[in-house]
Parts: sequence; structure tokens; C-alpha cells
Amino acid sequence: MAQLKHAQRQTVRNSELSVETRLNNLLNRLTLDEKFKLLAGTRFFRTHSIKRLGIKPFKMTDGPLGVSMHSTFGRKNTRFPGGICLAASFNRQLANEFGVAVGKEVRATGRSAILAPGININRSPLNGRTFEYFSEDPYLTKEIAIPYVQGVQSQRIAACVKHYVANNQETNRFTVSAEIDPRTLHEIYLRAFMEVIKESDPWLLMTSYNKVNGQYLFANKTLLRDLLWDKWGFNGFIISDWWSFSRSEPPVSTEDCIKAGMSLEMPKANKFHPKLLQSAYSDGKFSEDDLNAVVKRLLRVMILVGLFDDKKNLPPGKRNTPDHQNLARKMAEEGMVLLKNRKNILPLNIKEVSTLAVLGPNREKKFGKWLYGGSSAVKPPYEITPLKGLKSRGVQIISDPSKADFVIIFAGLNHDSTKSLARDSRDEKVATGNDSEGIDRIQLELPQYQVNLINQTVQENPNTIVVLLNGSPVAMDGWLENVPAVIEAWYPGMEGGHAIANVLFGDINPSGKLPLTFPKKISDSPAHKSIQTFPGVDLKVKYAEGIYVGYRHFDKANIEPLFPFGFGLSYSSFKYDNLQLSTNKISTNENLIVSVDITNTGNFSGSEVVQAYFHNECSVDRPVKELVGFEKVFLTPDESKTVDLKLKPNNLTFYDPQEQTWRIEPGMFNLFIGNSSHNVLLEDKFEYI
Ligand code: BGC
Repeated sequence: MAQLKHAQRQTVRNSELSVETRLNNLLNRLTLDEKFKLLAGTRFFRTHSIKRLGIKPFKMTDGPLGVSMHSTFGRKNTRFPGGICLAASFNRQLANEFGVAVGKEVRATGRSAILAPGININRSPLNGRTFEYFSEDPYLTKEIAIPYVQGVQSQRIAACVKHYVANNQETNRFTVSAEIDPRTLHEIYLRAFMEVIKESDPWLLMTSYNKVNGQYLFANKTLLRDLLWDKWGFNGFIISDWWSFSRSEPPVSTEDCIKAGMSLEMPKANKFHPKLLQSAYSDGKFSEDDLNAVVKRLLRVMILVGLFDDKKNLPPGKRNTPDHQNLARKMAEEGMVLLKNRKNILPLNIKEVSTLAVLGPNREKKFGKWLYGGSSAVKPPYEITPLKGLKSRGVQIISDPSKADFVIIFAGLNHDSTKSLARDSRDEKVATGNDSEGIDRIQLELPQYQVNLINQTVQENPNTIVVLLNGSPVAMDGWLENVPAVIEAWYPGMEGGHAIANVLFGDINPSGKLPLTFPKKISDSPAHKSIQTFPGVDLKVKYAEGIYVGYRHFDKANIEPLFPFGFGLSYSSFKYDNLQLSTNKISTNENLIVSVDITNTGNFSGSEVVQAYFHNECSVDRPVKELVGFEKVFLTPDESKTVDLKLKPNNLTFYDPQEQTWRIEPGMFNLFIGNSSHNVLLEDKFEYI
């Protein structure tokens, strides 16, 4: 008997056997009570262990900016820039390197999963979590998320795509229902989840707090089991967002969550309390097959991350290493967007700058604090503030702007979730609204005191440059026209100050492009037509704009944005010519290769992001333009390269709600090549047959 038990134990530990064999062996040995026990967390970021079978706790950590302090018992880890900054790099390789680095940091803290990436679509510029997410565009979102997930999981660490789905605002996030028509739900909000699942096989998926069309996601069999598991082939397990089962109003039932396909309630048992599970099971409300289906997925991921393997056979972890810090700096540099540069005032020539005045509320601000911004907070071992970064270049910093050669104002937003709205409105210094989980911003504008500071300073010194540190679009009415240069630096992570100095002094030529539209005013934004469309009335928010989110709306309504999607300047200039298509007719399984010659016509080496958009006139209404390809290319002055963009037919489809499928109609497609969604430089056509 003892020998048999030993042999069985060895089966799950034997990494030479197939995952299926190990999995079935483990599942068959679990008692009903043990299965129940596995379905809910204990403490904040781990599951129960089952010593009898050698099942260790499955431990997780937040989140999108790196390994958080609050989920690793106070550990300090590399703080990378926010998701929005990564997306602004338009660099898939960088996303993959970030994933690998995060995977290593997670492993080094003894965890098996990272609760990232956050891939919700940026519907409203006021959403408090915009800084964690990637874009208003599903194609860009998935193109960044896929290599990230692959990078994380190459370290045998589970990535967790979240928050499934339509968690596009923080106001009433536990109870609000996103009212969305089926085409919009699929084409805008589900699309990136679908592609990421199909192409990178994430091992975890987190449901969101909110409802969609009146139903909580975690009890929604149609959107979980039927769609995720059966149609998309999701192989991982589904986890609840923290306390979402217990916060549901009206409450969901235990059996509905099991039958929908939920494998894990976090952080503690509520609806998945063993007593409730036992009684629902005894009453026949769910079957043992239903139970096995969700437990099996959890166990499978435990095997994949190496929970039963000898540690020495797993990829080694490391954290806070110089290469991770360099990567954090590189991400900040590549994501930074040069929004304005009148008369090429930038880059500053270090030989000609003897004095700099450095002003503004974010000049010495450290963003890496305990729960700062919410669950994505990462506290790094050190943080280079903008002022520190500039000081490290040896320039003299003075306080009187009128006496300085140049002035840099570090403006932007606050990241402090503890500031209530009431306090915001009383205290001018924090009246920014926040880029933070749990709370949406209250206005698109910078607080008035920052606008005043910019305008007064520019009167004293016309060489005043504004650098923004924030994670979501801001309006610039009343000050943009007065300043010669503006840089969007997002939340640039622990090495942000160095990255900013490198860009200001021209060691790095900015190449970031906006992953979302900057509107001139909030009422231009499609989600902000009325209180019903944001933040909703009677806990219902109407997605009345349909598929016309972000640039799709601005193009259709012909509204000039402040800065369009895909926009970003360089210290150099680039010429586009010789657009060639591999074919003028494509069909379902045929890719179209689009090539363009790009020449650096300026004096600085630098990168350009070549963007491809399409329009298709067909029997359904389709956007004026949709992003379908991009490539980032590095060129030295006068250098030319041919850039190939691979356009896949499945990125040209729309969702047909009647047929419940993705389709393309035979017909003509217009192709636009440019350096933003607005600036089309070359055009052609092709036919889908
Ligand atoms: C957030 C998740 C996060 C979880 C654990 C929730 O409040 O919405 O994104 O991963 O907490 O901290």
C-alpha cells in the first residue's frame, strides 16, 4: 500500500510524463472535500495546500507594472513603466523582453503567476486605470499583450489576462452593468482577449467585477464556458477578481459560478466556501463532472508552472538586477511621446545649457509607493525622479526661471488612490483627479494651478518645456499654444528620471506614438455624450457609441482631436515611398505583404513606427480606418530600409451578430500607410475574393 502511494506521488512529480498523465493521476486521488478546498484562496494571494498529495499553495502576485510589494510581503522589486507607456512604444520585442523580465522577478519571489496583463480597452480617457492598460484599439492591445504573455510564460510563470470584460470604468465597478450590443462587445471589447488566448495560451484569466448586459461575468456561462473554453479553446483556469463573488448585488449562486467555469475564488472563500459547495453538490445543483472540469484546469496550471517539479529544473529567477533596471529605462524611453517641438527647441544641447530651472508638482515625485495607484503599485529599491535625472547630467539647477537658459516643468497627474474627491476639490495641490484604481478622474484638464504655473513661467522665460507624467490623456487648452515643446512621459518607472534626461538632451530620439486619442475636450470623447454613457444611471452604463471607440469615433464624427491615435514626433524626419503590395487579391488563408521604403531624412538616428490602416466598404457600417499592421524601424541619418508589414485576413474581419461569427465580405479594401491615424502618406487598394 505504502509503495503504491509512493508510486502515485511520483507520477505527478515525474516531469518526463505528459501533463495529461500527471494531471489525471492527481485528479483521481483527490477527495471531494479536497477539491472543494482548492477552489478558494487563503490569505490574499495563494491557494490552500494539500499536504497529503504534495500539492503546494499556488501563489500569485500583482500586477501590470511589475511584482507588487503588497503581494510579496513587502519586497521591493523593479518598477517598470505603466502598460500605456509600453503600448506607446509600439514595440513587440520590447513587450516580450518585459514579459521575460517580469517572469524572472515573479520566480525570484517564489510566486507562480503574475496578475497581468490588463487588456481592457480604453473607452473613456477618465478611467482611473488607463495607465495599466494598453490602448483604445484592440489590434494594438493584442499585438503588445501576446509577446508579453509569451515572455512571462517562457519562464514557466502563468500570465493572467484581466479583467474579462468591459471593465472600462472604476465608478461603481462592483455593481455597474455595461450595456453593450453584441457586435461591439465582440469587435471592440472581446477581440483582444480572443486573440491573446488563441495566439499565446495564457494560463490564467481574471473575470471583472462589473456586469455585462445585466449579468456578472463570473456567473456567465455563455461568455466563459461556451465562448472562452469551447469556441476559443482557452486552456487555462478562470479566477475571480478579489472579493467579486461576495460583492455581487444581487448575489450570484455557488452553482452558477461553478457551471460558468470558475476555478478559483479570491482572495477567500465566500460562494466557494466548502460548506456551500457541499450543500449545492448534495442538492444536485452541479455534478462531479462540472466540478472536475474546473479543478482540472487549476491542477494543470500547477503542473505547468512547475509546482511539482524539482526547483533546479525550472528557469532561474532574478530580480532588481541592473539589466531589469536598464530594461525599465529603455521602456520609458521608447514609450515617451514628443507631442510638440516648435522650431526644434529640443533636444537641448548639453554644451549650451549652463542653467536649468526645474519646476512643477511632479519634478521630485516618487510614484513607487505602497498601493499608490491601487493594486498595480510596485515599490522599487530606488526611484530616479525627473529632478534627479537632470541633476545627474551635471547641469546647474536654479530656482528663478527668468535667469535660466531653459525651464522644464514637470506637470501631470496624481497617482494617489487615498485622496477622496472631496479632498481633491478643497486642496488645489491635489486637485488633479487620479490615475488610480477604484476611482475615475473628474476632469480632462490639468488642475488650474498647473495651467497658471505654465503660463506664468513661459512669460518669464519663453524656453519653457512641459514634460507630463500621467497615465491617461489630458486636455491642453489654454496653455499648449504658449509653450514651445511638450513631452508625454507617462508613469515612467524607477528609471524614469534618467530616461527623461536622455530624451531631453537627445541621447535618445523619441519614438513613442500615442496608443489612444487625446481629445481637445471631454465632450468630444464618444463615451461622454451624457451621464447615461458615462458613468451611467441606475448602475447601467450605455455603450451607445457602439464600435466607434477612440479614433474610430473621431474619424467618423469628423472631430479634430488634440492629438490623434498613433501620433508622435521625432527629432528626425522620415520619408515614405515605394508602397508595394505582394498581391492585389487575397483570400482567407493568404497574407498580404505590404512593403514601404522609409528613409531617415533628418540629422538624428531614430526609430519610426510605420502604421497600416484599412477601410472596407461593405454591407455593414465599418470605421473610416482600422489599424491592421505596424512595424518599428531604426534608421541612421540618410539610411533607407524597406519595411514589410504582414496583413492577416483575420485582422480585417468584423463580427456578425446574426451569424455569431467573424466575417469579411468579398470586395475592395482601401489601405492607408502613415505615421498616425490622421497622417496618411501612401495609399493603395486590394481586393478580398
Ligand atoms: C484588482 C485586480 C487585482 C486584484 C488583486 C483587484 O481589486 O481589480 O486587478 O489583481 O485586486 O490585488
